[in-house]
Amino acid sequence: MIHFQDVSMVYPDGTKALSSVDLHFERGEFAFITGASGSGKSTLLELIYREMEPTGGEVIVDGQDVSKLPRGLVPLLRRKVGWSSRTSACCRSARCGKTSASPWT
Ligand SMILES: Nc1ncnc2c1ncn2[C@@H]1O[C@H](COP(=O)(O)OP(=O)(O)OP(=O)(O)O)[C@@H](O)[C@H]1O
Ligand SMILES: [Mg+2]
Repeated sequence: MIHFQDVSMVYPDGTKALSSVDLHFERGEFAFITGASGSGKSTLLELIYREMEPTGGEVIVDGQDVSKLPRGLVPLLRRKVGWSSRTSACCRSARCGKTSASPWT
């Protein structure tokens, strides 16, 4: 499971990316994270796999507070976490379209 408890993220330059976020996903749950550009989607994902730590609140993955995870166990955390980006899916189909329309194929 993935649990956010009152999570905030302020970047070192003062940009507030997330403010008091609460969310909960159970194992096997299918969820979309949507929002305008700059609304904090990437920040949220980066907190889940501990690319960085929240400036406030707790991010819990599989029962573990990721901020308290010893650095050596971060690779194990990352093996548990995956997501699909709409952007990469679009890129793949765009590449397919370009290839099949190419005069060199
Ligand atoms: N390393 C950083 N330093 C400072 N501000 C940042 C940093 N990364 C992101 N931000 C800012 O944090 C906010 C959230 O950015 P984030 O990239 O998480 O949004 P997003 O929803 O993923 O946007 P997009 O849809 O364009 O990918 C934005 O205001 C962004 O400019
Ligand atoms: Mg993003």
